Amino acid sequence: MKSTILYEGRYQWIVFGRDPDKPDGIIDTNQYLVVDGKRSLLIDPGGIEIFSAMLAAVLRYTDIDHLTDLFASHQDPDIISSLGLWDQALPHAKLYAPWIWESFLRHFGLNHIEYHSIPDEGQVIRLESAELTFLPAHYLHSSGNFNVYDPVAKILMSGDIGAALEPDGAPMFVKDFDEHIPKMELFHQRWMPSNRAKQAWINRVRKLDIEYMAPQHGRIFSGENVQRFLDWFEQLEVGTGISED
Ligand SMILES: [Fe+2]
Ligand SMILES: [Fe+2]
Repeated sequence: MKSTILYEGRYQWIVFGRDPDKPDGIIDTNQYLVVDGKRSLLIDPGGIEIFSAMLAAVLRYTDIDHLTDLFASHQDPDIISSLGLWDQALPHAKLYAPWIWESFLRHFGLNHIEYHSIPDEGQVIRLESAELTFLPAHYLHSSGNFNVYDPVAKILMSGDIGAALEPDGAPMFVKDFDEHIPKMELFHQRWMPSNRAKQAWINRVRKLDIEYMAPQHGRIFSGENVQRFLDWFEQLEVGTGISED
């Protein structure tokens, strides 16, 4: 599992991905970890197939006792089907996830970890010095869905928004935005259901100071590519799976 440090200050942001041992036929995912002293938040921990690779990778940056908090942006298996295994590895941890998915996510096996429901309007949590906002991103694509925003690191972890479908081993950062568009187009048109939700999210996110927009699939946008993504997404028609006949 490859890891890259995204931010280094009083705490760290690390991205994990591009696992060469990932089984074929499952979508590649990016997992994020915020390490803040004796508290760490693992963001969208990933599918059951990558659990052992993720556990080993995370323990290079923090002790198991300091891995205290998990976050699931929504209910998809590529986000959190590993929950039952984390539940055994981290019996005292807390999971932050959308309130609407609690009775669904418990199917993954939640016997020890405490489920903390995020209300629809989102919330702010504090680790040691890091203050993180769970920002509403409902219907993009899941009907209960949050991003994670850090105003100090200027990172927006955008979940499936900004995702790209591309071959294994792709670079971690977008270099040429125009070249990247075809890799994102179908995903956003087909997986995102609502133009109205898209516009509400863009309006919310345009007010934020963002250096890195970090999705759960594909490459991370930095600097002016963040604004270019917002402009591109704004003009894109989504919800293309609807048939009128
Ligand atoms: Fe998803
Ligand atoms: Fe996803």
